[in-house]
Amino acid sequence: MTYSIALIPGDGIGPEVITPATEVLDTIGDASGHVFNYVELEAGGCAIDRTGEPLPKETLEAVKQCDALLLGAVGGPQWETLPGHLRPERALLGLRSGLGVFANLRPAKLLPQLRSACPLKDDVLVSSNSEGKAEFDLLIVRELTGGLYFGERGRSADHRAAFDTETYTWDEIERTLRMGCEAAMGRRKKLCIVDKANVLESSRLWREVAAVVSKAYPDIETSFLYVDNAAMQLVRAPGQFDVIATSNLFGDILSDEASALAGSIGMLPSASLGGPLAKNGRPMGMYEPIHGSAPDIAGKNIANPLGAILSAALMLRYSCGLEKEARAVEDAVSAALDAGLRTRDIAAKGRTAANETIVGAREMGEAVIALLEKTL
Ligand code: IPM
Ligand code: MG
Repeated sequence: MTYSIALIPGDGIGPEVITPATEVLDTIGDASGHVFNYVELEAGGCAIDRTGEPLPKETLEAVKQCDALLLGAVGGPQWETLPGHLRPERALLGLRSGLGVFANLRPAKLLPQLRSACPLKDDVLVSSNSEGKAEFDLLIVRELTGGLYFGERGRSADHRAAFDTETYTWDEIERTLRMGCEAAMGRRKKLCIVDKANVLESSRLWREVAAVVSKAYPDIETSFLYVDNAAMQLVRAPGQFDVIATSNLFGDILSDEASALAGSIGMLPSASLGGPLAKNGRPMGMYEPIHGSAPDIAGKNIANPLGAILSAALMLRYSCGLEKEARAVEDAVSAALDAGLRTRDIAAKGRTAANETIVGAREMGEAVIALLEKTL
């Protein structure tokens, strides 16, 4: 098959992590006969510099013609003083809503090789893991095109008061929870809905919808947590979670927290799904590592490309239907970690472990490819 992939490397470390990710895809292509045709596009700060807009209309239109979008990161200090609607981050919001990808899947998994990069103590990890291992494996399903990010916002006439609103419709909640339930069915069949129903009316609507949706999934054990408690439970006993379904803002915050427990924000991939099917009849998806543009380390070849590479794996799985290839990429990442290769962010904290070698983004990408080639 031939797949057309929109590529938005973006700003900061975006290009440095997207290059190894596309090289990984090309390795898959060479071995399997599938062809990945890239359509390189601009969004974020680089688009502002060239066109004055974070998300040029042509970019969104071109992405819609593709089978999937792989994005690095957008943003940087030079654009931070621009008004809200002209900031690079608007490009992300415009792409998410423009593509209709309302569910953001963020798997957060502590790989055994990264145990020493996780800040939690052994007993904290072990006590909540059903197999008594110092590991956890959870999935955050974050609502992505509604809530506070897209609600009405503004300023008072004198600009001394400001507001943002959290609005959710029944349908927006229902489709997100269904996605959460579908994900849970393919995993350990546990769904925890995170909200703030003791205070927010919109959260109480989430609970009403959940009561209806959960009837269609009798095999799933559904629970509810207030977000403050969930933030605490994540560090107290991360192994208790399977799938967490939550609103846009809460998902944003909890996924950063979960990523630190998984060793580094540089490790986490994401898949945004739920919009219209692509021309090839498969789910069109937007795939991005959850880390940002990290301008402080951009251009130094020290970024972690694994979040982007694992995002490419999710793309192979969901938008290309290439499960075997997706697993091969994930296994190659795991093998690179087995071999002791570490970017700085995932090296053992505070000391250099004897069996670890610190490498750059390029070298990590090359290692993953070499290990991948062996298995294809
Ligand atoms: C993320 C990021 C974005 C978000 C920012 C850059 C707008 O933090 O993808 O998690 O808040 O959604
Ligand atoms: Mg975030």
